[in-house]
Amino acid sequence: MELSFPHYLLAKQSVDDRALNRSVLSALQNSLPGGPLRIIEVGAGIGTMLTRLLHWQILPKTHLEYTLVDEMPENITFARQWLPGWAIENGHTVEINQDGFCFDNILQIHLIQADIFDFIHASSGFKADLLIAHAFLDLLPLPEALPPLFSLLKPGGLAWLTVNFDGLTSLEPVLNPAQDALIERLYHQSMDSRLSGGDSQTGRHLFGHLKQAQAEIVAAGASDWVVYPIQGQYPAEEAYFLHFILHFFESSLGEHPALDPAAFKHWLARRLEQIQHAELVYIAHQMDFLVRP
Ligand SMILES: C[S@@+](CC[C@H](N)C(=O)[O-])C[C@H]1O[C@@H](n2cnc3c(N)ncnc32)[C@H](O)[C@@H]1O
Repeated sequence: MELSFPHYLLAKQSVDDRALNRSVLSALQNSLPGGPLRIIEVGAGIGTMLTRLLHWQILPKTHLEYTLVDEMPENITFARQWLPGWAIENGHTVEINQDGFCFDNILQIHLIQADIFDFIHASSGFKADLLIAHAFLDLLPLPEALPPLFSLLKPGGLAWLTVNFDGLTSLEPVLNPAQDALIERLYHQSMDSRLSGGDSQTGRHLFGHLKQAQAEIVAAGASDWVVYPIQGQYPAEEAYFLHFILHFFESSLGEHPALDPAAFKHWLARRLEQIQHAELVYIAHQMDFLVRP
């Protein structure tokens, strides 16, 4: 199967839809100020959070500016095609202008391909009412990444920090308890030792990091991914999503000295079979936060 990261982000949508913590989401909805809003989403991928917020009617019907920043050119190229197509299919008007797109004459969208810290460095005057970081903070060096990210906000602005991985991966049915436990432990360790940063317990550690960054927690709660077959099939594109999760295991542990290569290959093949037979159940524990830095 050909694996594409933008396709993985598309397949992840229905999993995220179920996962997002609804009390944190309603706190966001209740806390958004009226009037024109400027929103920035960091590590925004292909823009699925924007389409979700529109589809769920979370954003106020006011003039909005939504800036998406992602460092991966493939994501931004994909978003340029996909977002206007999605909008037209879903009954929005789309105008393509020199800044990006405008939906329904009130939502101006900017797509920026950049490392977010380069963007922050280059645009010190940029100030938003809402910062969104979805499935992103657990890839960054924390706590030191928080102050620059929060510098993107106006005084009193809000940050909605969602799907922060928090130290638990479960694949059922168990194949071999000792081997499964070892692979899970090494997988988490690989998140902790990435050169670019990352923490396999970002969710729980954010309580302390946010306190240190003097950010008030308005709401917090779990946002676990729970992927399971329904009547013998995975919903939407969740089989593809699961393939990609196995790909993450393979790419992070494929050459790990603590794993016997043949046994690991066999483990991956058996997990793949479990997806093909719609038997695999995957759970990842994660946390959402709404904060006022
Ligand atoms: C797990 S993906 C999540 C994407 C999107 N938020 C979603 O959930 O669909 C993390 C994203 O962060 C982007 N990313 C990683 N480091 C970045 C950085 N320093 N600056 C900007 N984007 C970054 C990656 O390109 C990737 O698209």
